[in-house]
Amino acid sequence: MRPLTLTLCLAAAVFTAGCAKKEAAKEQGATGTVTKQEFGKTAQGQPVDLYILKNRNGVEAAITNYGATVVRLQTPDAKGTLADIALGFDNLQGYLGEEPYFGAIVGRYGNRIAKGKFTLNGKQYTLAKNNGENALHGGLQGFDKKVWAAQAETKPEGQVLTLKYRSADGEEGYPGNLDVTVTYTLTGDNDLRIDYRATTDRDTVVNLTNHTYFNLAGQGKGDILGQQIAINASRFTPVDAGLIPTGELREVAGTPFDFRNPKAIGKDIGAADEQLKLGKGYDHNFVLDRRDEGLAPAAKVIEPATGRVLEVWTTEPAVQFYTGNFLDGTIKGKGGVAYQQRYGFCLETQHYPDSPNHPAFPSTVLRPGQEYQTTTVWKFRTEGAN
Ligand code: BGC
Repeated sequence: MRPLTLTLCLAAAVFTAGCAKKEAAKEQGATGTVTKQEFGKTAQGQPVDLYILKNRNGVEAAITNYGATVVRLQTPDAKGTLADIALGFDNLQGYLGEEPYFGAIVGRYGNRIAKGKFTLNGKQYTLAKNNGENALHGGLQGFDKKVWAAQAETKPEGQVLTLKYRSADGEEGYPGNLDVTVTYTLTGDNDLRIDYRATTDRDTVVNLTNHTYFNLAGQGKGDILGQQIAINASRFTPVDAGLIPTGELREVAGTPFDFRNPKAIGKDIGAADEQLKLGKGYDHNFVLDRRDEGLAPAAKVIEPATGRVLEVWTTEPAVQFYTGNFLDGTIKGKGGVAYQQRYGFCLETQHYPDSPNHPAFPSTVLRPGQEYQTTTVWKFRTEGAN
């Protein structure tokens, strides 16, 4: 019975609590909704949709199948007032041009690969250099610029959007056909869980992440320098002038990179520090302190005025903390707001940048027969009230 009912629910453009309630009234996911809207067409005329996942508390994650991109995140403050905390655009048009990966899934390899080259099984592969002399975020047409196949459904665990994309052998220079599935699940407890899966038919490298820029005060509401962040990392990977890791794992102790206790993002960002100068702020890979390979806390951000809190949990070994240093007001986002420098921060859970060229870093190689499997959870919480 169950699959049939779910299929019928899926057939409707909007399927609400009603369908699922008959199935299992006590299932927490059953009290939310999933809505599908047209979002626009690509330059090639391909239609793209926006899926709006809403839970029982009114928390909303709007995600498009263009780039598997998080377009909107409505979360409550300590008084229960909802605001959109994700930078981005009101319509597809904004995402089609050049933009800094707002909300997108980046791949096949998130972050940088030095000089756009790596060697695997003795063979050298060449990628496009789309960031100075380096390759960044999957290339000229990364996963953020692809239309993904999408399926939305209400499940016991919440509102679920499953997105699939096949990256062909040789696409952007990477070997192997890579079948990727990204699943977003909005739970009744205000968690947005992102499950990443991939398989390949040839040895390749994979490093997938989500590139949402958060502003817990609400997108477009100024910079994020007063927001307090804690990052569960005793070490980070210092970079060279091209933001490629040097290979060193440096202790954060005694540096502006020490976020082991909560600290305002802006507290040390202007410090006379070589690494901060190279990144024009924080744009660094933090090596998480982990006990095992399971889901573990990576970072926590608090916005003092609204009481909004974001916790990031992940199975990944690291997180790129990026403070929107390259935003400069030229991009007009939602509501026409000019996104100025530091208007958002990213917490990109990942393997270390340039791992294919650093044998000592945790491996990003995926081989046939293996499954790439990572999970990151964003927990939207509140603390105190003002
Ligand atoms: C990188 C930044 C880059 C930004 C937007 C981040 O992941 O670390 O250097 O500017 O993405 O492309």
